Amino acid sequence: MQYKNQPVFPEKFMWGASSAAWQVEGAVAEDGRTPAIIDLNSKKKKPYADNSIASDHYHHYKEDVKLMADCGFTSYRFSLSWPRIYPSDSAEPNAKGIEFYSNLIDELLKYGIEPIVTLYHYDMPVWVDEKYGGWYDRGIIDAFDRYARTCFEAFGDRVTYWLSINEQNMQICYGKWLGVCKNEETWLHDQWKVNHIMNLCHAKAVVACHELVEGGLIGPVPGYVPIYPASANPDDQIAAMNAEELTEKVWNDLYVHRKYNGFIRSYWNENGIDPDIREGDMELIESAKIDFFALNCYRSNTAKHCGIEDEPQEYLLNKNGVKGQLIFPKVPGLYQLTENPYVETNDWDWEIDPVAMRYMLRYVWDHYRLPMMITENGYGKYDSPAEDGKVHDAERIEFLRDQIYQVGLAIMDGCDVIGYNPWSFTDLLSTGNGMAKRYGLVYINTTDEDVLDLRRIPKDSYYWYSDLIKSNGQNWG
Ligand code: BG6
Repeated sequence: MQYKNQPVFPEKFMWGASSAAWQVEGAVAEDGRTPAIIDLNSKKKKPYADNSIASDHYHHYKEDVKLMADCGFTSYRFSLSWPRIYPSDSAEPNAKGIEFYSNLIDELLKYGIEPIVTLYHYDMPVWVDEKYGGWYDRGIIDAFDRYARTCFEAFGDRVTYWLSINEQNMQICYGKWLGVCKNEETWLHDQWKVNHIMNLCHAKAVVACHELVEGGLIGPVPGYVPIYPASANPDDQIAAMNAEELTEKVWNDLYVHRKYNGFIRSYWNENGIDPDIREGDMELIESAKIDFFALNCYRSNTAKHCGIEDEPQEYLLNKNGVKGQLIFPKVPGLYQLTENPYVETNDWDWEIDPVAMRYMLRYVWDHYRLPMMITENGYGKYDSPAEDGKVHDAERIEFLRDQIYQVGLAIMDGCDVIGYNPWSFTDLLSTGNGMAKRYGLVYINTTDEDVLDLRRIPKDSYYWYSDLIKSNGQNWG
């Protein structure tokens, strides 16, 4: 529907921003933290910086929270670092790790900012990996359960909103890029065993949250890329539905309906895949009832028919920010992705598509009828201070304005949306392009080549966002 008036946001809408421990904290060897696999991975992404310093949030958290408060935040989504809380396989957690997050939570609450806490955002401790082969071995389930229970017990008196595993779907779909895959040749089969183990960890966390946190609410964090059919050709529509299943819906159906859906069971049969579902697993999954969806959404995709006889093509992401590097995948018998002539793209070939935000919220609401919060959305670009010392990021303002407007339209359409937390508050390390690809509302004065003074410089987008959120979504600038 087209509305005559501009959107109205609910009264207690949570306006904030988002981060993840390994991308923002730095201090990787301080106060007992031991390495995570993603630390080692980040060292391989030369010429970009690794995560040893990142935004140095560990040492700047008070200043960062003050900036959030000045901006008008009412929420902040961040993650806990598993190797900071359990640096080794000891029965006792690391008191210093608990203390850091406890202080951060207290600092947020001091300013009336609601903490939204992710348990797992890619920082697998090296000790867990060495002992259990990462997500490949069911031994990780108890280790994850112990970690999650420790977090609920330590912070559950002050944290209501919990997120289980960040972008489980993306970790499976892009297992090679995100370091989950350990053997490319067998990944087609392994990924579903790994995924099943992740589902069991997610389920344990949901159950433990409800058991240990009074009034605690928990949800998953799918990485969402809405998929349109390339044309009105019915075969393209089915291709779009296939892509939707294999990149998103299989996961979301599992979280909500707590069963593997018919589509994925047929896919496994067709490809001779055994996900290794054992006795008691589905009972555990059945008992894990989520409370809401946290949704990450940056862009959209477009799908068209791909015949079973076609040659497969791997999805090759643009890893260096020079336009035109991306190669779309072909999955014979299911779908292929293709360009969308109706949308622009950024330097990393990511579609700039605000309507995808409204589409996603409508889609998830129509299918699952659960409250939703946006936990990631944002514009990655090269930024640097101008001669006046300020950071002018008009393109980011335009991106955020258009996207938030669509969140508002989805609310007008009847969707239950409870918060918006874009990526990211400060600049932080990107997954593949160090500090070069920046998302922050606040600039961090450092580069991939040199660690500078790490000064915080609010960008133009910070001030624009502040005006918008202080007016609860009325002042669009
Ligand atoms: C999300 C991840 O998918 O995308 C974040 O949860 C990530 O960790 C963000 O940083 C942006 O991706 P990138 O590759 O530009 O850092």
